[in-house]
Amino acid sequence: MPVFILGIESSCDDTAAAVVKDGVLLSNIVANQEVHRKYGGVVPELASRAHQQNIVPVVDQALKMAGIKSGDLSAVAFTRGPGLLGSLLVGSSFAKGFALAGDIPLVEVNHLQAHILVHFLKQTGRDVSMPTFPFLCLLVSGGHTQLMVVRDYLELEIIGKTIDDAAGEAFDKSAKLMGLPYPGGPLVDRYARDGNPDAFAFTKPVIKDLDYSFSGLKTAFLYFIRDRLKENKDFIEQNRNDLCASIQKTIVEILTDKLEKAFKQTGINQVALAGGVSANSGLRERVQWLARKHGWEVFIPEINLSTDNAAMIAMTGYVKFLAGKFAGLDSSPMARLPI
Ligand code: KG4
Ligand code: ZN
Repeated sequence: MPVFILGIESSCDDTAAAVVKDGVLLSNIVANQEVHRKYGGVVPELASRAHQQNIVPVVDQALKMAGIKSGDLSAVAFTRGPGLLGSLLVGSSFAKGFALAGDIPLVEVNHLQAHILVHFLKQTGRDVSMPTFPFLCLLVSGGHTQLMVVRDYLELEIIGKTIDDAAGEAFDKSAKLMGLPYPGGPLVDRYARDGNPDAFAFTKPVIKDLDYSFSGLKTAFLYFIRDRLKENKDFIEQNRNDLCASIQKTIVEILTDKLEKAFKQTGINQVALAGGVSANSGLRERVQWLARKHGWEVFIPEINLSTDNAAMIAMTGYVKFLAGKFAGLDSSPMARLPI
């Protein structure tokens, strides 16, 4: 009997549903929430409301695209956390109702773990190379920056993490300082393509071991822009591409310096990227360059599987389904949930 898993993701501002059959992706639907753009960041109450509006049509579309009915499902997997509590509540309540009505098992998924396990998702007609255990993973999202050794599907060791801001925040906050709308990361990436990464130099932090810090860079960027604006009020408009290229280069180097260090410490040469920031073209290029330098085998998800999606939730649901790890109806969402 084939195993069909419905995955539901609602941890932040994307309402997403996907269906996976025996680990093969059948459908992957994401409804982005435009409502937050004008506020310069995600407004939690508005996110919850938009999830409520989107979730039924998004799940319906995911089932239709997969060509299955709800009765065919083997289990429903949902994001338990980490994320915005109100947003998580919408997805988890929906998943519980769905499981109860269909009398199918419920699987709770850690969003961060799912970003990693997306590397094991198969796609029809596409030859996806997958990492073998153990591999190094740099998980870079809007709220997290972690380096880990992944030893098995559900077993990993965190060997480095940020002591303050996440890499995604560094991108988004820098973008905000340049007057760019939220989320700024993809826009910095776009402008950086036409800029000179060596136009402006920003100091990289000195942090021990494999840990990261991004708050000092944010402050340095703030003061730099403030001082230049005093001399020239059009400084940002006149230098946007160079500013984006330079800040991106610095963030990417901070990330990859520790990745290189982790490789040297562990000797593991299979390297995976995960999370929204792994969509960044500068990071992708630098990791590919390091791969050639050190002989790494690199794994980077497609762009739409790097940023938040439900395919990764369904895939993790499949892994946990096979391991017999089910959740009860009393499972509650957690805003903070260690991996
Ligand atoms: O994993 P994700 O989609 O959501 C969370 O789990 O947080 O990551 C979102 C983060 C945001 O900070 C966003 O600006 C960043 O990923 N991001 C990017 C790019 N695409 C998304 N940052 C830099 N360059 C990109 N192309
Ligand atoms: Zn994410």
